Amino acid sequence: MKYDFDTILDRRATNSEKWRTKDGELPLTIADMDFKTAAEITAAMKKKIDQGAFGYEYPTKEYYEAVADWYQSEHHAHAETDWMRFTTGVIPALTASVHHFSHEGDNVLLMEPFYNTFYNSIINSGRHVIASQQLYDTATHTYQVDWYDLEDKLANSLTTLMILCNPHNPTGYVWTKDELGRILSLAKRHGVIVISDEIHGDLVLEGADYTPAFSLPNDLTTNLITLVSTSKTFNLAALHSATGIVPNPILRERFDRAINKYEVAEPNLLAIPTTIAAYRHGADWLHQLKDYVRGNKEYVAGFIKQNLPELQLVPGTATYLLWIDTSALSDDSQQLANFIRKDTGLIINPGTYYHGNGAGFIRINIAYPRKQIEDGMKRLAKAIADFPNAK
Ligand SMILES: Cc1ncc(COP(=O)(O)O)c(C=O)c1O
Repeated sequence: MKYDFDTILDRRATNSEKWRTKDGELPLTIADMDFKTAAEITAAMKKKIDQGAFGYEYPTKEYYEAVADWYQSEHHAHAETDWMRFTTGVIPALTASVHHFSHEGDNVLLMEPFYNTFYNSIINSGRHVIASQQLYDTATHTYQVDWYDLEDKLANSLTTLMILCNPHNPTGYVWTKDELGRILSLAKRHGVIVISDEIHGDLVLEGADYTPAFSLPNDLTTNLITLVSTSKTFNLAALHSATGIVPNPILRERFDRAINKYEVAEPNLLAIPTTIAAYRHGADWLHQLKDYVRGNKEYVAGFIKQNLPELQLVPGTATYLLWIDTSALSDDSQQLANFIRKDTGLIINPGTYYHGNGAGFIRINIAYPRKQIEDGMKRLAKAIADFPNAK
């Protein structure tokens, strides 16, 4: 079956948070997609709705088997169903874990620039963010781990947790197996629990596939909680469903307590059948989606190269989010983003949201029908041409 990614959806009419904008504005922002999910997934939802009785639900054996089979077939990665726990989303699981596995005043380590919502989970619970800056190479526009600094911060006696984003948001970087192993082994040496957020793991567009952290050898996964979800993969963010995968039985028992204590372990009426349908029947849709988004990415890369030589695309291979170096134009991406919006109605995320060196970057979501991406690029080119005159 050939799926349609070209039809423009009217998401203003459906309470989309991203589209709470003025008429005529184009938001290439929040990480969800402007495509309909697979028909097989919608059919499973409809079947459930037609049943009409919506009492309490719990995750089933079939649910965990669907997760395990997906990771085996898509990523050649093995997870036992016993290692898995349902949770109501990556952020809820993360927030519960921060509360349960650390104390007020502890440090939670992450590598900046980094997905912004995590900061709320940490700071709102009275913990400190401790950040290791990824080293940016201005010639190749790539980042590298500052290993010396990372170990120093892992060794800090107040650091009890580390959050890893695999693949990384906002750079789209896919950590290699060696890098993951090195991070996990350093964390283990210093007694730090690692939460690996793999919500973008199914969205590697080119190059080597990502490595699910739970698939690393046993001795590296003793301190590891991996969080996976159909949320980004199949455009199901509002389903509020994710799976924690914890190979170590002692840590698993503690994770179990965390998600139950903070009430993030019970599925809503659609979470179980929808996730099963996605993992059992969604592969073909996902592969076509990735081809389409890769096409968008090639289009944007070509457009920027030809028309906007001031901008540099950071060469990530995963996610539908592009991280673009705008430092030749401005060292204040919030101001730049405000100008772009005012000048053309194009809304993008300023890199300042993601801390680190984000003031010299913008983030653009390209999971849209091609016509909207073309519209976005035209607006971007106009804004960049007008920008110097705005100063
Ligand atoms: C890296 C990352 N983690 C988590 C989330 C949100 O996860 P959830 O909706 O399951 O809480 C996002 C959404 O943008 C994300 O990019």
